[in-house]
Amino acid sequence: MAADDIPAIDTRAQGGAASGCPLHEINFFDPDFLQDPYPAYARLRAEAPVYRDPNTNIIYVSTYDLINEVNRQPAVFSSDFGQQLASGAGGEIDPEEIAILSQGLTPTSTMLTADPPVHTRYRKLGAKAFTFKRVEQMGDYVARVTNDLIDAFIADGRCEFKTQFADLLPMTVIADSLGVPRADMAKFKRWSDGFIVQLSGMATREQRLAAARGMIEFQHYFIDVIEQKRLHPTDDIISDLVHADLAEEGDPRKMNHSELMSMLQQILVAGNETTAHSITAGLYYLLTNPGLIDELMADPDLVPGFVEETLRYLSPVNNMWRIATRETEIGGFPIKAGDTVMVRFGSGNRDTAHFPEADTFDIRRENARTHLAFGAGIHTCIGALLARKEMTVAFPILLRRLKNLRLREGHGEFRYSPNVILRGVLELNVAFDAA
Ligand code: HEM
Repeated sequence: MAADDIPAIDTRAQGGAASGCPLHEINFFDPDFLQDPYPAYARLRAEAPVYRDPNTNIIYVSTYDLINEVNRQPAVFSSDFGQQLASGAGGEIDPEEIAILSQGLTPTSTMLTADPPVHTRYRKLGAKAFTFKRVEQMGDYVARVTNDLIDAFIADGRCEFKTQFADLLPMTVIADSLGVPRADMAKFKRWSDGFIVQLSGMATREQRLAAARGMIEFQHYFIDVIEQKRLHPTDDIISDLVHADLAEEGDPRKMNHSELMSMLQQILVAGNETTAHSITAGLYYLLTNPGLIDELMADPDLVPGFVEETLRYLSPVNNMWRIATRETEIGGFPIKAGDTVMVRFGSGNRDTAHFPEADTFDIRRENARTHLAFGAGIHTCIGALLARKEMTVAFPILLRRLKNLRLREGHGEFRYSPNVILRGVLELNVAFDAA
């Protein structure tokens, strides 16, 4: 596969991953496979910690230590995969998609899809948005948002937890932090979903075209916001970014629309769905591990451990792309310049060499916080503090207010989204005693 190709998705039947079929018969992109990739991850770690999938030519890196080794070498394993994603499945950019995107800004790589020194420059500005001090001050505010969201459904005695709570908490926090109206959150969700499908490398043509149209709407919307904040700055992240100076980085100017758009897109996408999935999965783990809710209620000091274990166990960013910049090796396995590499954070987080009994959900796990859910190295998540804050504040309130919380049997199946990059729960129907 050429460097700028993305895997073509085939629909060969999945199965046998755990039971010993040859690795090359596993379709790692099959939506059914993605429901539970963990047996296959265990086989990869044991049989081929660095594995070139002959069906896609992607190299999978699956052990905790080797993932860290890749992430420690950003010059060799580049994050400049934006162009690659732009070419979609099949490796060619659809002319209709080009026509739509040509109405918008020229894309710029900033944080997630940039390498040093470009990455360093933008990351410094992005990281200022979610400093320890700023996030520490958000506790009461996150509690208020949590309570308001619960107020909206508590009288019903039931809810679809993902859409009625887990999606809305991070989305509200991001909207407020950026300084845009909460009333526009449905639009942000639509745009964000489009970007996520694109990041997966699994989008259909229709999804890519819809995402491209969403991108143009997103740009128009935020150009207006940027221009307002340029003239009338307020106390929010967009105002900070609009007025931030690249002088410190040796480039004395403000960011242009394209740079700002890339930063905002990442904050919007990275900050919403990942946290929403973590909150939804965390509740699911509580409801399916008898006694855990009582334990957490009895001892709030266990909440941070529960949050870390949820992040480790789910690994919402299950995998991430890298591109080899030169011939090299990892774990003794040869890599060619231009190879597409996938670091499998989800697999590293279940590596028994680092996490004993890694498939067990254990809120008292001593090293849970060393998980790879927020990545590792120079691209480590800038929103980790915020995501942790939202989860540690929200769960005790949810458990206190939603009495006799239980799964609504027969209402929706517990399924993971069919996305190779982001792992998350599609819906979670719960019941509780109406207040
Ligand atoms: C549970 C929630 C979250 C998870 C699991 C998560 C996970 C990750 C991971 C694994 C990376 C590294 C990607 C790589 O190595 O290429 C990352 C990067 C990033 N995250 Fe998060 N994230 C979460 C929440 C957030 C939030 C709340 C924000 C912002 C408000 C955010 C913003 C970013 C940005 C901008 C990057 C790129 C950083 C860089 O490339 O230097 N994330 N995230």
